[in-house]
Amino acid sequence: MNILLLGSGGREHALAWKIGQSPKLNKLFIAPGNAGTAATGINIQISATDFPAIRAFVLENDINMVVVGPEDPLVKGIYDFFQQDPALKQILLIGPSKAGAQLEGSKDFAKAFMQRHGIPTANYLSVTQGTIDEGFRFLESLPAPYVLKADGLAAGKGVLIIPDRAIAQKELQEMLGGMFGDASKTVVIEQFLSGIECSVFVLTDGKDYKILPVAKDYKRIGEGDTGLNTGGMGAVSPVPFADDTFMRKVEDRIVIPTIKGLQQENIDYRGFIFLGLINVNGEPMVIEYNCRMGDPETEVVMLRIQSDLVDLLEGVATQSLAEKILTEDTRSAVTVMLVSGGYPGDYEKGKEITGLNQVENSIVFHAGTRSENGKIVTNGGRVIAVSSYGKDKAEALAQSFENAKIISFDKKYFRSDIGFDL
Ligand code: AMP
Ligand code: GLY
Repeated sequence: MNILLLGSGGREHALAWKIGQSPKLNKLFIAPGNAGTAATGINIQISATDFPAIRAFVLENDINMVVVGPEDPLVKGIYDFFQQDPALKQILLIGPSKAGAQLEGSKDFAKAFMQRHGIPTANYLSVTQGTIDEGFRFLESLPAPYVLKADGLAAGKGVLIIPDRAIAQKELQEMLGGMFGDASKTVVIEQFLSGIECSVFVLTDGKDYKILPVAKDYKRIGEGDTGLNTGGMGAVSPVPFADDTFMRKVEDRIVIPTIKGLQQENIDYRGFIFLGLINVNGEPMVIEYNCRMGDPETEVVMLRIQSDLVDLLEGVATQSLAEKILTEDTRSAVTVMLVSGGYPGDYEKGKEITGLNQVENSIVFHAGTRSENGKIVTNGGRVIAVSSYGKDKAEALAQSFENAKIISFDKKYFRSDIGFDL
C-alpha cells in the first residue's frame, strides 16, 4: 500500500515510525514532514491543507491511503473533499467528515452533542455578543474559577481559566469582541472541574471501535505543572489511575454513547477520537474532544500498540474494524519533549542539533526540525520528543532523561519531572 501522511510534528513522526513497520506498506510519503520523517519515508513539500495539491499528488503517486495527522485539514473538510471527488472517493482516508470534526472545531457543537447524548461533562452556557447578559448571569451562578472557551480553533490558546469573576466578565467581553478573531464570536462558559486529566484515544470506523492505550500529557511549561500552557512537554502511558474500573466507566458512559450519537446523527466518522478526560473523584468527565491523535501522546501510544497500525487503519476506512485485533505492549512508554528556550513565547529557530546519533535505547521523534546543509536544525518550539520503553514508568523516564541530556542545541529546555504526579 502507498500511504500519504499529512502533518509535520512529533505526532506525525511517531505515526510514520509505526506505519513504517507495517508489512502492508509499500511507499510512505509525508506532507510536509520534518527532518525525522525524512528518514522514515519521503517528505513532499505540500501543505497539509492544500487540498488541490494533495489531490494531484495522490493521483500521480497511486496513493491508497491518506492518514491525516492534524485537525486543520479535517475541520476544513478533507474527508468530504475526497468523498465528493469521483477520482478520490476510493482512496482510504483516515479522519472524520467535516461534520464529525466539529467535535473539535466547535466547542459549542461538542457541548451540545454531549448534552444530547447524556455524556458527562461540565455544565455550560454558550453565549454570543447578543446574549452576553445571560453569560454574566451564568458567571454569577458559578463558583470561581471561571472557564471561558473560544468556540472555534484557536491554536490551543482559546481556553482561559480565571480566578476572579470581574476579570472573567471583562475577558468574556473581550473574547466576544474578537480576542481570537472569529473563533471567539461564540464563547462557551463552563463550570470548573477539579481532578487529574488523561487522554483516551478511540479508533472508530463509525460502527465499531477500539480503545488505544491511555496516556497522560504534561501541558505546562514549568516543573510541578506551573507556568504557561504548551502543546505538551511530555507524556506517559499507561496511566495508573485509569484502571479497569475507571476505563469501564469511560467505555460505558463516554465511548459507546459518542459512537452511537455519531451514528444517530448520521455523522460519518472513520478515524481517531481523542477524549480529553478529567477524573472527578473516580468519575470520568469529558473536558474536550479532538478529532485526531494527541501530541505528544502519540509518541507514547504508538510504542504501546503491538498490532500492525496499517491493518487497523484499513479496518477503519473499510468499516471492518471489528475483525481486527488490537494488542498492547505491556511495558511502560514515556516521552520527554526538548523545546526551544522561550517557548511557548518567542523563541529562535535554526539552532544546530547535535548528539542525535549518540542516543541509545530511546526512540527519537522529531517535532520541529529541518535539514539544512547536511545538519539538522531546530524549526519550532517543540523540537524533539525522546521516547523510551521501561518495565515501569521510572525505568522508561530514566532512559529518556539520560538521552535528553545527550541531545543538545542552544537554549534547549525540558521538564525533568514528567510523570511526577502519578
Ligand atoms: P481544552 O482546550 O478544552 O482541553 O482546555 C485546555 C485545558 O484547560 C484542559 O486541558 C484543562 O486543563 C483546562 N480545562 C478546560 N476545561 C476545564 C474545566 N471545565 N474545568 C477545569 N479545567 C478545564
Ligand atoms: N497533547 C494535547 C493535544 O494534542 O491536544
